[in-house]
Amino acid sequence: MDDGSLEFKEATAAEVWNAPLESLDPAQPALFQADAMWPIFERLRKEDPVHYTAEHEFGPYWSITKYNDIMAVDTNHQVFSSDFMKGGITIAGGQANMDPLPMFIAMDPPKHDVQRKAVSPAVAPPALAAMAPQIRERAAGILDNLPIGEEFDWVDLVSKELTAMTLATLFDAPQADRRKITYWSDVVTCAPAPGALVETLEQKMQIFSEYHAYFTGLWNEKVNAAPHHDLISMLAHHPATRNMEPREYFGNIVLLTVGGNDTTRNTISGSILALNQNPDQYQKLRENPDLIPSMVSETIRWQTPLAHMRRTAVEDIEFQGKKIKAGDKVVMWYVSGNRDDEVIENPNAYIIDRERPRQHISFGFGIHRCVGNRLAELQLTIIWEEILKRFPTVEVVGQPRRSFSTFVKGYETLPVVIPRRN
Ligand code: HEM
Repeated sequence: MDDGSLEFKEATAAEVWNAPLESLDPAQPALFQADAMWPIFERLRKEDPVHYTAEHEFGPYWSITKYNDIMAVDTNHQVFSSDFMKGGITIAGGQANMDPLPMFIAMDPPKHDVQRKAVSPAVAPPALAAMAPQIRERAAGILDNLPIGEEFDWVDLVSKELTAMTLATLFDAPQADRRKITYWSDVVTCAPAPGALVETLEQKMQIFSEYHAYFTGLWNEKVNAAPHHDLISMLAHHPATRNMEPREYFGNIVLLTVGGNDTTRNTISGSILALNQNPDQYQKLRENPDLIPSMVSETIRWQTPLAHMRRTAVEDIEFQGKKIKAGDKVVMWYVSGNRDDEVIENPNAYIIDRERPRQHISFGFGIHRCVGNRLAELQLTIIWEEILKRFPTVEVVGQPRRSFSTFVKGYETLPVVIPRRN
């Protein structure tokens, strides 16, 4: 972080505790980019855990900030809808100047359930067991080609590479196209702005049409071939999805691209950062590689790579003493729930051997709970097994550049050096 944003962080923390409660508005990408949102969530959890922000560029919204309240909303899909026609699953949904895309994460039962079931086998335990050796081989290849003794960007050379390779395999797309898929995923989550990856909505739409054409080509190939165990073949042949509208197919591709990509990528980068910020934990891990699985879960909690999911109330409901009305936008801040000290002991600390490392809310709960969670954990586990075999340390040598987003909580860049051995 540069000096300017550090000042911003300190000023914000002081201001937050003195500000009128009703003025608190955590949904600001600049706060997340500066990693300066924590005091707002801390105050909200203490003083107003179900909080209403009346003024926001995307309209008024409720913030749910405590772990158990988030669980209660996430598991009550009868009242809190994910439907893309009502606004979908992000705070910007319905207001970001693009027609909403149908995809099963942004649907309610029964349609959600049948579509989820159609793709789940691609990431179920037998499929993962079959993929593991290939992921390991790729992880090894990536690590063996890293520069030693000189600075490079971990996000680009490791996190993006591994997750792009896995995603191309899941789609059975040519490996040569893997970075195109990563690029499209980044374009999906990018709010057009001068200097950003896409600068205008027109540019975004143009890139979307290339993305759409590419995956239409894959569908056409798969639909005319014998069923195969990749995601596209599953969608093209499953009775619940083979007749879906092209727009709905594309929506689900967008979901699988972003779901399978940013989240795991940002957790891989987050693990390097967290272990560097906590050298005692890094030492513990080096001394005991059996801690890798619990370190992975702790990093998924600590990083919370998707900061929020949004719902829309479909009926009036009194929730924790607040009157939420039909049509209201409700934002579940996973990033805050994961720091709730009534549920997680010492939640701001990064501790790789916690007693219950899987107790976090990063994958959500209820019918939409992340379908790819085991695949994410597998990639993280393998990359760390291979890192520890090779490098005593990977040193972070500068500040990460964080994403300008209240949804994807991640890193654009993370400068590191792998020290030369003497
Ligand atoms: C859903 C997080 C990795 C695919 C979700 C949800 C969250 C999430 C928060 C929504 C849960 C809810 O609304 O209750 C994460 C995190 C990951 C990760 C933190 C990595 C650390 C993956 C991977 C895939 C994936 C690798 C690959 C296929 C999906 C899909 C859904 C989903 C398809 C929609 C499920 C549904 O609506 O039923 N994920 N995810 N995710 N995720 Fe992940």
